Amino acid sequence: MTNSDDISALFQHFLQSLREAVSQGGTPEVVSPRVRTVMRHALQDDQFRLACILETLPTLDTWLVQGFDPVIFDDDCLEIAVKVMLWPSGSASAPHEHTTWTVTGVLHNALIFSTFQADKSGRCVFQREFEGLKGDVGYIALPCIHSVANRSSDG
Ligand SMILES: [Fe+2]
Repeated sequence: MTNSDDISALFQHFLQSLREAVSQGGTPEVVSPRVRTVMRHALQDDQFRLACILETLPTLDTWLVQGFDPVIFDDDCLEIAVKVMLWPSGSASAPHEHTTWTVTGVLHNALIFSTFQADKSGRCVFQREFEGLKGDVGYIALPCIHSVANRSSDG
């Protein structure tokens, strides 16, 4: 039996591991895989996934105004933030460019990640897509134009 203190401690342990991974420094190509390892390990635990959801609850008041896109941790000194994002069934983001490194883990269900490259006229040209299943973690090597979609019919 796990209580809320255990779940909170699990989340705090993740944050400490995240801080350590980022504090070691290095280029995005070095830091991103290090953070991916931390997140991949954390996401193997059902209680950690629950902790992520619980961490969103204090942001409840902002959901109607800003949508569900809560930052559940940020550290200005390390310049990192942890967000829980939601792509409802059938939804997809428009292709967009990332200018900073990003590590993404799939908390629930599955997502399709597509990558694009800008042609000479600036149009996005599809490159490839891959599926991320629950527990999978990937990172973006810069620069990257991508989109995220939930093609499932069950959430
Ligand atoms: Fe993105």
